[in-house]
Amino acid sequence: MNILHVCANPKPIEQSVSKQLAARFFGKLMELNPDVELNNVDLYQDKPPYYSNDLYRRCWMPVFDAAYEPTKAEEAAANYAQKQAEAFKQADVLVLTMPMWNFAMPAVMKAWMDQVITPGLTFELSATGPKPLHNVTSIVLLVASGGIYKEDDDRDALTRQVRAAFGFIGIKDVRIAWADGQNPLFFSDSEVRRETAFEAAEELAEELAEESAEG
Ligand SMILES: Cc1cc2nc3c(=O)[nH]c(=O)nc-3n(C[C@H](O)[C@H](O)[C@H](O)COP(=O)(O)O)c2cc1C
Repeated sequence: MNILHVCANPKPIEQSVSKQLAARFFGKLMELNPDVELNNVDLYQDKPPYYSNDLYRRCWMPVFDAAYEPTKAEEAAANYAQKQAEAFKQADVLVLTMPMWNFAMPAVMKAWMDQVITPGLTFELSATGPKPLHNVTSIVLLVASGGIYKEDDDRDALTRQVRAAFGFIGIKDVRIAWADGQNPLFFSDSEVRRETAFEAAEELAEELAEESAEG
C-alpha cells in the first residue's frame, strides 16, 4: 500500500487533536502492515502557492487550445503542482489530516487541492468528462472540530468539499474519523469524544490493512 499523507496543521502534535488522530491511525496501520510506503507532506513546511494566472494558463490552455506553448514563467508556475501531482500519482490511498476552521478546511489545504486537482496532472478533461490520471482509490479524512455536526450538516463545508472535489477526479471512497466536540467549554464529554475518534481511526487502519492483505 502506498500512502500519501497530507497534513494541514501548524500546531505541534501535543496540542493538535487531528495530528494525534493521524498518529493513532498510522501507529495501528504500521503495526498491522509494516510494508506500507508512506510519503508525508506537511503543508506548513512545504507551503503551496496560491493559484496564479500563469498556472491557470499552463494547466488549462492545453485543454482548449492544442497549439498553446507555455512561456517560461508559465512553466515555472507549475513546479509545485507537478511535484505534488507526482507524489499523488505514486499513491493508492490519500490521508488528509486537518482541523475544521470556519466550517471548512484550512486555506493551505484548499491551496494544495487547487494545485493538485489539475488537468494534465491528475485528470484528463474531454467532452465526455474527467478521466483520472492517478491510482488513488480511497481517502482517509482525519479531522478535529470544536463543534459537533450531524451527518449532512449544512454548516459542514469541509467533508462536502473533499467528497465533491476528489469525487470529480474519480475518488468516491472517503472514510472519516472525526474528533468533534473538542471545545471543552461547550462539551463536557470532549475527552470521551476524542478517545472514540482515536478508536475510529484505528478501525479505519484495520480495515485498510485487511483490504490490502486481501489484495
Ligand atoms: C481559526 C479557527 C477556526 C475554527 N473554526 C471552527 C469551526 O468553524 N467549527 C468548529 O467546530 N470548530 C472550529 N474551530 C475549533 C477547532 O476545529 C478545534 O479546536 C479543533 O480541535 C482543532 O484541531 P487541532 O486540535 O488538530 O488543531 C476553529 C479553530 C480555529 C483556530
